Amino acid sequence: MTTDHSQRTRVLTGITTTGTPHLGNYVGAIRPTVQASRNPATQGFYFLADYHALIKCDDPARIQRSTLEIAASWIAAGLDPDGVMFYRQSDIPEIPELTWFLTCVTGKGLLNRAHAYKASVDKNNLAGNDPDADVTAGLFMYPVLMGADILMFKAHKVPVGRDQIQHIEMARDMASSFNHLYGEYLVLPEAVIEESVALLPGLDGRKMSKSYDNTIPLFASSAQLKKLISGIVTDSRAPGEAKDTEGSALFQIYQAFASAEETASLAKAYADGIGWGDAKQILFERIDREVAPMRAKYEELINNPATVDAILLKGAAKARELATPFIKELRHAVGLRALASAASSQGHAKTARAASPSFKQYREQDGQFYFKLVDPQGRVLLQSLGFGSPKDAGMAIAQLQQDDAKALAALGAQVTLGEGVSAAKVAEALGTLRAELAEKAKTKA
Ligand code: TRP
Repeated sequence: MTTDHSQRTRVLTGITTTGTPHLGNYVGAIRPTVQASRNPATQGFYFLADYHALIKCDDPARIQRSTLEIAASWIAAGLDPDGVMFYRQSDIPEIPELTWFLTCVTGKGLLNRAHAYKASVDKNNLAGNDPDADVTAGLFMYPVLMGADILMFKAHKVPVGRDQIQHIEMARDMASSFNHLYGEYLVLPEAVIEESVALLPGLDGRKMSKSYDNTIPLFASSAQLKKLISGIVTDSRAPGEAKDTEGSALFQIYQAFASAEETASLAKAYADGIGWGDAKQILFERIDREVAPMRAKYEELINNPATVDAILLKGAAKARELATPFIKELRHAVGLRALASAASSQGHAKTARAASPSFKQYREQDGQFYFKLVDPQGRVLLQSLGFGSPKDAGMAIAQLQQDDAKALAALGAQVTLGEGVSAAKVAEALGTLRAELAEKAKTKA
């Protein structure tokens, strides 16, 4: 039996504290999350990922300010700190401790394949630099810290953007490696991708993003909001000429705030040739109507940072009621325990199991289904190309498990051997798996 965190489904997500929340963050993350946090069937964990911020930002004042702004934004937008776990990552010392435990069961090869790290290496290679130029160990370890965030609180569901799916897959890999070695302590999380949430365009029509410098801050003053909205790109059609809603950033932003009727009425105004100035005024009024009440609360919090500190510390104390006993349990599990305590043999049987290779199935950003065969150290022995469905990938795995030689030949280019891995090595690993399956079938019979 391990520490029971709660019977409810635990939903957890983190926000890196490097920026000022903008309307895109509000529509894409804050608003849907605040809504979801009110579901009584779930327990929400929402935290400020300030350790992660250090990987991307070396400006202390920016980190501090962003932490205040993000915390104040979430509360102002309606997150109830007493109804959920709302805390600062760096107030939970158990997280870096778990990061180390996970570091010790994570294959370096797994981290080599992380998209963000690989992108930096590719960029360096292209520029003819050393592959690891300007790559910190922090960037390399990013997925492990994120794994600790998630596994610390036994999260079931992790709502994230598409770019984060791989990190959740890696957290699952880390959890299974740990559990194989030490027992079933960690819960395997699942990524939740909110398909219906709008991607908000920015001032220039591209996706609203800090890196494009095209954002509208969520809590800009009314006057600033108006001025920024007047800068949204439009075409040059004059008042009286019919306008296209399709491809109109202004229209898309409006839609993210307005009801279906309001949206239909703006669409009609477009067709009737509304002038861009008038359309912008309508957009400004609609956004301001939603944001103004929150803005007052936001400003009150920003001007009283000690209130926000107190809320976050209270949240951390609550979160640590779960984290402290759990890390104790994990310390014991890995052998960091009182010397006088009876040497538990738990882990021995698991060690034998951990020595076996395994198949991992996952979905990539291209929407295709992949699998790989990895050895106990996380080294890739066999890598598939994409399959159209999880079933097709599963069938290929089943074939490989039944008859490796035939199946390997039949799959042809659909699978490739890992770097420096021989076909014999793959056959050996598949043989081990086959023997295990036979063993399992026997014990069942
Ligand atoms: N990496 C996430 C992002 O950039 C932020 C994050 C850190 C996170 N730890 C997390 C998200 C744990 C979900 C769960 O968006």
